[in-house]
Formats: sequence, C-alpha cells, structure tokens
Amino acid sequence: MKRIIFAVLTLLPALVFANTGAVQLDKANYDLNDKASLQRGATTFMNYCFGCHSTQYQRYNRVAADIGIPEDLMAANLIVNGAKIGDLMENSVSEQDAAKWFGAPPPDLTLVARVRGADWIYTYLRSFYVDETRPFGVNNVVFPSVGMPHVLEPLQGTPRAEFATHMVDGVETQQVVSVKSDGNGEMNNEEYDQMVLDLVNFLVYSAEPVQQERERMGFWVLGFIVIFFIFTVLLKKEFWRDVH
Ligand code: HEC
Repeated sequence: MKRIIFAVLTLLPALVFANTGAVQLDKANYDLNDKASLQRGATTFMNYCFGCHSTQYQRYNRVAADIGIPEDLMAANLIVNGAKIGDLMENSVSEQDAAKWFGAPPPDLTLVARVRGADWIYTYLRSFYVDETRPFGVNNVVFPSVGMPHVLEPLQGTPRAEFATHMVDGVETQQVVSVKSDGNGEMNNEEYDQMVLDLVNFLVYSAEPVQQERERMGFWVLGFIVIFFIFTVLLKKEFWRDVH
C-alpha cells in the first residue's frame, strides 16, 4: 500500500505538467567563477538589453568591481547613457511609453534570474520564432504572445519553428517542437548559445551579487567549527582527567 502511495506521489508532478503542456527547459550550465563569461554577459546586456530593461538595484562600480572590469573601462565602454560610475543602473525609458509600444513594459531585470530561474531565461532567449500574426513578427515558445521583439535576431539569424499536432484536453493543438535559425545571423548556433549563456550568467550574478562571497565565507566558518571542535574535545579530556 505504502508503495502505491509513494508511486502516486512521485508521479503526481509529472501528470500535472503533462496536463498543462509545460515546455521542457534547457539546462543553463553557467559558472559564476568565470569572470570572462560575466564580462561578456555584461557587455551584451548593456548593448542589447539595457535600451529597454534596467538593472536598477545594481550600481555600475559595484558590478565593475565584482566581475573584474576596471572602472575606467566600464565608464568608457559600458555606460551608455552618460551616467556616473557610482550611479544605479537605471535607464530612461518611461513605463507608460514602453507599455504602449510593446503591450507590456519591459520589467527591471536585476532579480529576474531568481523569479524565473536561469534555465527559463536560457531557454526563453533561444525560443523566439517567426510568427507573422504577432505585432513584431515573432512569438516565443516559453512565453506565448510575448511583447518583446527578438532583439538578438541579427546575431542568431531568423528562427523558424517546426510544428507538430498534439491533442491537449481532446482538442487538436499545434505545438512547436523545435526552433531553428536560417543561418543568416552573425553567429552560428554554438556561438549564439554561448552568448546567451554568458548573458544568463550575468543575470544570475546580478540577482545575488554576494553569492560567491557567501560561499567563500561558508568555507571559513566550517573550517572554524572543525578547529573549535578539536579544541573542545581536548578541553573535555582535560577536565575529565581530574574527575576520574
Ligand atoms: C525593444 C525593447 C526590449 C529589448 C531591447 C529587450 N527586451 Fe526583454 N522584454 C521587453 C518587453 C516589452 C518585455 C515584456 C514582455 C511581456 O510581458 O509580454 C520583455 C521581457 C523580458 C523578459 C521576461 C521577464 C519576465 O519575467 O516576464 C526577459 C527575461 C527579458 N525580457 C530579457 C531580455 C534580455 C536578456 C534582453 C537583451 C538581450 C532583452 N530582454 C532586450 C522588451 C525588450
């Protein structure tokens, strides 16, 4: 009986997902210790995303220090709107205007990696596909009817979707099974995936800038506890020697 209950409980999430037709997310193997990747991610972010999305809970100089970019290089190359190195990374897009242009305002992305998860963002940025019925001519597999245009198309090339017909709740539904670039972008598929991974790495860092620091401190704290334990045992022996 226990086994049956266990089996049902383990299968339950799978059944729920199957029913909602949830999209399989690709794993983002990002590496917060890879400074070069974080720097590339920050560069892509400032050039391709910052026009619409801010990361307004971060300051330029903090990011520069954390990911190893000298402040003068950061100021000369990555500050695109005349802000000062100590300023918050805000942009000047008005929410109302943006909502009018895109149907929804582009959200601040400082914490998006915590809200959506790295795998979701990694899959999202590789899942735009041509859909002429949409205002910007593109749709997205993990974010249906998305308001964001496919701003990375010059790099990826034009992504076309392959469809298959599935039955969802007894209704025939067209579902995207894969998205392939026509190969006319500046990057090939591997380069594009790497560029997106760097961006995701940067956004994961951005959502929790002290994560590295915390892990380093955790190491020292555990080391301290181990040494403290040894002294405690020695002390206990010393006390009990007199008692016996
Ligand atoms: C031309 C403006 C524009 C640019 C440039 C842009 N985006 Fe967006 N983005 C949007 C809009 C608008 C939305 C909201 C879409 C919606 O809600 O339908 C959005 C949504 C998103 C989301 C989903 C947020 C959420 O949790 O709902 C992510 C992640 C994202 N963008 C990442 C990026 C990245 C990374 C770049 C740079 C490569 C980028 N965007 C460039 C307009 C833009």
